[in-house]
Amino acid sequence: MSLHVSKNFMITPISKLVKAVAITSFLFAVPASAYANENVRAAGMDKETMMKMQKIMKSDMALMKPDLQKQVKGLSKETKMALMNILSTHSRRSKQLTLRQVMHEVLSDYQSITTGLVTDNNEQAADAARRLANHRLPLGGLIPYMAKDDVNDDRLASLVGFNDLVEGNALRLAAAADKGNTGEATMYLGKIAEGCVACHQVFRGQPGVSNRLR
Ligand code: HEC
Repeated sequence: MSLHVSKNFMITPISKLVKAVAITSFLFAVPASAYANENVRAAGMDKETMMKMQKIMKSDMALMKPDLQKQVKGLSKETKMALMNILSTHSRRSKQLTLRQVMHEVLSDYQSITTGLVTDNNEQAADAARRLANHRLPLGGLIPYMAKDDVNDDRLASLVGFNDLVEGNALRLAAAADKGNTGEATMYLGKIAEGCVACHQVFRGQPGVSNRLR
């Protein structure tokens, strides 16, 4: 994959999702029972999960300052569905951690995967990969840690692709490691790293830049 990531990077997975999710009413205001079962299934969530995700999104929204709340409310149905889909794959949520702290955990898990693979310890690799895929979500979810200009449909469309690159391949790596296929598992390390790098190129940039330099 090219390291030059455009705004439209990895747009395909989300556009597929968008087509699949022909939802006519929207999540915060509408009870899950209002969604046709078919649509809910198409989004990869059953009714119960959908209701749970709506609740979580609502409580995340309650933590946001009014200007961010307004931005999130203005996102398209498709973006909100995509965010809920991502939410639904994470069972661990923190009441105080920031995204940066979560990222440090993610990096540690990535390193632990590598340690497992290079020391013939597929069990360590598989466990760390599953932990990485189900990394904690920070207080308020991901959005509050994004730059203001990144909280729009266009920018957030790339999230689904990055998520699959990192978490999808972490799960594939775990499955290969479970089977003792260390070689195959090791191939996924590069793909995961591509996901880290690509997401950072869009949503992050160089850390710790000083504003005291000319
Ligand atoms: C969904 C997009 C996304 C993905 C995927 C992602 N990151 Fe990040 N990462 C971020 C953002 C945004 C920040 C900046 C957070 C901040 O400064 O509040 C960040 C920051 C970091 C930091 C720096 C924390 C600090 O103290 O400044 C590390 C380390 C990191 N990520 C590791 C990883 C690793 C390793 C992976 C892949 C396994 C990864 N990230 C995948 C979005 C992502």
